[in-house]
Amino acid sequence: MRSPKDFFRPLAVGAPEPLRQIPFRPSRMIHFFDPGNEKMAAKVPDMVGKADVLLGNLEDAIQADRKEAARDGLVRIAREVDFGDTQLWTRVNSLDSPWVLDDLLTLVTQIGDKLDVIMVPKVEGPEDIHYVDRLLAQLEARAGLARPLLVHAILETASGVANVEEIALASPRMQGISLGPADLAASRRMKTTRVGGGHPGYLVRTDPVGDSLAEGRTTYQQDLWHYTVARMVDACVAAGILPYYGPFGDIRDVVACEDQFRNAYLLGCVGAWSLHPKQIEIARRVFSPEASEVAWARRVIDAMGDGTGAVMLDGKMQDDATVKQCQVIVALADDLAA
Ligand code: GLV
Ligand code: MG
Repeated sequence: MRSPKDFFRPLAVGAPEPLRQIPFRPSRMIHFFDPGNEKMAAKVPDMVGKADVLLGNLEDAIQADRKEAARDGLVRIAREVDFGDTQLWTRVNSLDSPWVLDDLLTLVTQIGDKLDVIMVPKVEGPEDIHYVDRLLAQLEARAGLARPLLVHAILETASGVANVEEIALASPRMQGISLGPADLAASRRMKTTRVGGGHPGYLVRTDPVGDSLAEGRTTYQQDLWHYTVARMVDACVAAGILPYYGPFGDIRDVVACEDQFRNAYLLGCVGAWSLHPKQIEIARRVFSPEASEVAWARRVIDAMGDGTGAVMLDGKMQDDATVKQCQVIVALADDLAA
């Protein structure tokens, strides 16, 4: 059987070794839909080509008495819709739920040839990925699938974060990891009640200016997810897989959504989830490098010739390390244009 890594192609020569294994198919937004909701299901053909990834959700947000309808709906949609270059993923139920075995059995044997990636929620450690990996191997053999399914883990438990490096390396099927801020907040016993984003109470305050503690002070809201995103990115890059920010639940707040996505992009994530068509456009904009940034990166690479030594460009020092950063931007732009 071919390794899932056969579906990866190298980035530009000179890219750091782990980055050479990044999948070439763009996945700037993983757009969630409820396959059992007829209105939503009817819109899926129109979404093809608009989102990089369409994901049929079977887990949270699908009521317990609608789990089978969602699973059946996904089978029907996968058979009827031509997804073209758009990837089709699913999020199955968690490994401790009564539904996951039927999810995997049904989906792999009936539409395994149509699915690209299986997202596994609430992953606690590498043993969860080993379990899914073995089960998928059995089911793929039963279905006679030539192409192995890839696995994407959601990082949304405190144990998962503690074990993220082992999770990222747990199987050659691992495609990537997403931060799941809502479940993670609950698992960590954070005192929040929202799906991703910041919190007005999580802030730092500048020192007072004079004698009065009240004078001249400014407060800055902080990013609750900075540590976890950065740790997840390191774990993913070290393992040669892709990191993603997850959901942003306040659909109306497009500004804060864009900020959260951009923080994730700047820290190394390649995409985020979208829960509404508005968020598809935000993710497309944020996770595609800006033309001016790509032009600057190309200028730096050109100016650096063989990449050794140092040059000044518009007053800024360039060297081997800036060339490598610029290669990341250019490789991403080339991949997205391909
Ligand atoms: C996603 O599943 C989350 O819990 O944030
Ligand atoms: Mg969750």
